[in-house]
Amino acid sequence: MRIPIRSGWLSRQRRIQLFMDLTSTCNIHCIHCFRELFQPTPARMGEKELQTLKEDVFPYVKRLSLSETGESLYVKLLPHALSAAKESGIPLVHIQTNGTHLSQEISFQLLQRGLDILGISFDAATQGTFEKIRLGADWRTMESNVRTLIDMRRVLKDRKLQVIFHFALMKQNVSEAIDFLALAKEWGADSVSYTHLFIEKPEMKEWSLIYEPDTANQLHRNLRIEAERLAIPALIPEDLGGSIDLFDGILFDSPVYKGHCTAAHEDWIFLRANGDCYPCFNLHDRMPLGNIFKENFVEIWMGEMNQKFRKRAVSNGEVEGCDGCKFFTKCERNDQEISYLAKRLTTAGVAGNER
Ligand SMILES: C[S@@+](CC[C@H](N)C(=O)[O-])C[C@H]1O[C@@H](n2cnc3c(N)ncnc32)[C@H](O)[C@@H]1O
Ligand code: SF4
Ligand code: SF4
Repeated sequence: MRIPIRSGWLSRQRRIQLFMDLTSTCNIHCIHCFRELFQPTPARMGEKELQTLKEDVFPYVKRLSLSETGESLYVKLLPHALSAAKESGIPLVHIQTNGTHLSQEISFQLLQRGLDILGISFDAATQGTFEKIRLGADWRTMESNVRTLIDMRRVLKDRKLQVIFHFALMKQNVSEAIDFLALAKEWGADSVSYTHLFIEKPEMKEWSLIYEPDTANQLHRNLRIEAERLAIPALIPEDLGGSIDLFDGILFDSPVYKGHCTAAHEDWIFLRANGDCYPCFNLHDRMPLGNIFKENFVEIWMGEMNQKFRKRAVSNGEVEGCDGCKFFTKCERNDQEISYLAKRLTTAGVAGNER
């Protein structure tokens, strides 16, 4: 256990995990995405902002995600951002994409510029389900894009880029969850990841598998067996508790979650495309720690807000502004509904959730 800044000094060692968006926008509409509830204020980084990140922030970063809440592959700056990250020596760079803009040219750029992990979101194993969940995306284009990338990786003899296919489990796609493993293997993925749905609006409770833990756990078992049979690595959710402890519906005023906070222990920063920084995406309805394009990163990191948040979370396990850890499977409580509920369903005053 380590308090990130103890002595008032931030050395130039790599310790930060930076989760960021180059753009706040996306080109498609997925039925389960938070974007169906609200649209973030449009913002997009440019060359100047990238240069600031390269000089001021990247030297501290050990792991970088270049797309968290938006779609980065259609951003012209993306290849430059990837090069800037690699020139700065960041050991691990990850991009999560909807795959719609994974053209031959973009695939080449990702490989040539040294991307480490590409996560591709499917949430389906058939055209019909895919196009019902990912509105605006085209299955045939997706297949052609992904196969082109995998072929190119083979031709270029690239051993670095790991391709992970992703599937968010919900009633609309559950019958395809197992077949997805064979599809991933056939299309050339290195591994597969599954998560349960994060419930963005009350109607989505009907879509979620968490309220039938026995059925969900049986699915987990079947997924493990099939992944082993096909010899494809798969990240499958931990089993749910015997019954789910429901959130009682009395909304929090100012939530203080008590428990492990990965953001505080592992030195995370979530950076929106407009430059605002937060310790975690779950805290983005609060005041930002600062704006990276207006203040120096070290000043933000050393600032009272960041220091207080981390010291409290690490020493007392009290996470101010957080209603329950949910975004990251490692610290998720598998037997609690709150782990799957968007903050707007647990907390008064965050309905719009956008400042
Ligand atoms: C918000 S998207 C951003 C990156 C990119 N646009 C994409 O779709 O991969 C990141 C991931 O979150 C997943 N996601 C979106 N809404 C979700 C929800 N309500 N529950 C669980 N996962 C969700 C998406 O399927 C995607 O894999
Ligand atoms: S592609 Fe990603 S960001 Fe866009 S709507 Fe779908 S899940 Fe949301
Ligand atoms: S969801 Fe809450 S507890 Fe979990 S990492 Fe984020 S701030 Fe910490």
